[in-house]
Amino acid sequence: MRKPIIGGNWKMNRGTPQEAKDMLERLVPLVKDIDTVDIVIAAPFTVLVTLYDTLSNTNIKIGAQNMYFEEKGAFTGEISPIFLKDIGVEYVILGHSERRDIFKESDALINKKIKKALAMDLKPIVCIGEHLEEREANKTTEIIKYQINETFKDLDKDEMSNIIIAYEPIWAIGTGKTATPEQAEEIHVFIRKLLDQKFDRETADSIRIQYGGSINAKNAEDLFNKENIDGGLVGGASLQSDSLFQIIKAADKSIK
Ligand code: PGA
Repeated sequence: MRKPIIGGNWKMNRGTPQEAKDMLERLVPLVKDIDTVDIVIAAPFTVLVTLYDTLSNTNIKIGAQNMYFEEKGAFTGEISPIFLKDIGVEYVILGHSERRDIFKESDALINKKIKKALAMDLKPIVCIGEHLEEREANKTTEIIKYQINETFKDLDKDEMSNIIIAYEPIWAIGTGKTATPEQAEEIHVFIRKLLDQKFDRETADSIRIQYGGSINAKNAEDLFNKENIDGGLVGGASLQSDSLFQIIKAADKSIK
């Protein structure tokens, strides 16, 4: 039985301590009795300390949206996993399509970051997904296979057990065009098949695979009811406590 995980990815949208605090102070009481779903907020670096202050002794975990694969040194503008650990960060989103497309992060770089995160005991939420042109050219499975092989290169089964995969079709991110539950489920099943081939059945069955891309309070339930969808990575709808709470409740309901 996989525990669903809901990640709120605030992107570059909630970066002042006051707005972060306001949102979280509304969310904390709403979700305090939910123990069937892991809840993570991945916030900009500037408010991670605010999350640390606001979320200690709650059931909401702290996530970062990126990190570098070195611990220290002359890497202007980068963030060390040590700094993240020190302020209570437990999860880190790696390989988000915005990092891949806008900031030109390669699968090889993402692979290095995943290895470092695991070595530092941070849990990577690794994003994979195809562009619209790739889907239209029937290349979705080819792209997913390539990304799985490259981003998880040289990782073993134990390491994989600490990873969360987020399948995020890029055409569905921030566009209001959600993948249908059937489209998402089909790729989630395919990802498990690849994990079985690359690692083993146990790894494939136990890894949590989130869906991401225009999840909202209305479509969440149908997505999470699919057998292979273990929660979601939520962008826009994670900015308001009410909509995020509805999505968390949908994940809670999906296991009952
Ligand atoms: P969205 O973003 O929910 O706003 O589509 C999802 C994501 O990019 O993780």
